[in-house]
Amino acid sequence: MSFEYADRINRLPPYLFAEIEKIIKEKKSQGVDLISLSIGDPDLPPPSFILETLKREASDPKNHNYSFSQGEPDFREAVVGWYKTRFNVDLQQDQVVALLGSKEGLANIARAFINPSDHVLVPDPAYPVYANGSTILCDGMAVPMPLLEENGFLPNFEAIDARQVKMMFLNYPNNPTAATIDKKHLKQAVDFAKDNRIVLCYDNAYSEITYDGYQAPSILEIDGAMDVAVEFHSLSKTFNMTGDRIGFAVGNKQLVAGLTKIKSQIDSGPPVYTQKVAVKALSNYTGHQPPEFLQRNNQILQERRDLLVNTLCQIGYKCDKPKATFYVWVNCRGDSMKFATRLLDVGVAVTPGVGFGKYGEGYARITFTQPKERIAEACQRIASAF
Ligand SMILES: Cc1ncc(COP(=O)(O)O)c(C=O)c1O
Repeated sequence: MSFEYADRINRLPPYLFAEIEKIIKEKKSQGVDLISLSIGDPDLPPPSFILETLKREASDPKNHNYSFSQGEPDFREAVVGWYKTRFNVDLQQDQVVALLGSKEGLANIARAFINPSDHVLVPDPAYPVYANGSTILCDGMAVPMPLLEENGFLPNFEAIDARQVKMMFLNYPNNPTAATIDKKHLKQAVDFAKDNRIVLCYDNAYSEITYDGYQAPSILEIDGAMDVAVEFHSLSKTFNMTGDRIGFAVGNKQLVAGLTKIKSQIDSGPPVYTQKVAVKALSNYTGHQPPEFLQRNNQILQERRDLLVNTLCQIGYKCDKPKATFYVWVNCRGDSMKFATRLLDVGVAVTPGVGFGKYGEGYARITFTQPKERIAEACQRIASAF
């Protein structure tokens, strides 16, 4: 017996990474020493204070009951405190909702505000959840905002027809381009959203993975943002705990309430013990500067970044040193799928830019979530491939 998928499933675009993933599986089963520079999952461990807190909190039977859909009060209070310490932004507890990782919140927010055929502005290239898990699976219409190199990978709001637009996603520090945004451009985004009554969903998952003294802003630091914006955060990348599934959304009260209402019909809050770990993690911040653990973590990543970018440039590829994220967005001088497939032949996995949208064509995303020796070896293999 076979069943028909709902139309919204059939509307999802073809999964462009399927062919690449098939080759990766084959290579691995043949025992090929494949260097994976393709996934956005840190190889470094969570700090020991996280592991110790997790052990202690998970051993407490009281922490195994359902949590509130909006999250535990002490978790929300810690998020309020973190926003004040880190961004000097004032929030109240009812402007915070706990998430099972920010991906879940980014997908569920559309359920609260998007009706069939509503337009949703999504960056292109982008993390695919905005267009797929969020917009298409809510029967909305994803309208691409090209992120072009000549514009610093920022959207050009003047070129956008906003008439049917109900929601917009933005993400800086950006995956996959690793671009960052300054407050002047954030203000343009907020003004554009306000002028056109658009819900502004700001994905700040990489705000803490920064280099060379750069500090990523929160959109909520911008005048007027609290009227239109909800910001998504996660402990995944900051504390190397992608599998623990803990994040949060904050901002405009009505937007947070809408997301909370949807979530209360779909899931319960994240495990209480994970929320307690998050309280401990966030309270590590005592000022604007990153806490010690993060400074050490980012120093390791920064050295890897320098090695990767310097070597790629020596080989002849054009790419910049990113100020944030663990991605390098490389001009691969042609068809990105062919580039990635050719590199698999020499045992290096990278992500073809076209998988992030049509404006990603001509680029590849290379991650530095591998030790320096492996990155050096991967670069040698890349040099030998072309
Ligand atoms: C831009 C961006 N946003 C959000 C996420 C989701 O992270 P999580 O669901 O682990 O919080 C990712 C994960 O790769 C990402 O790259």
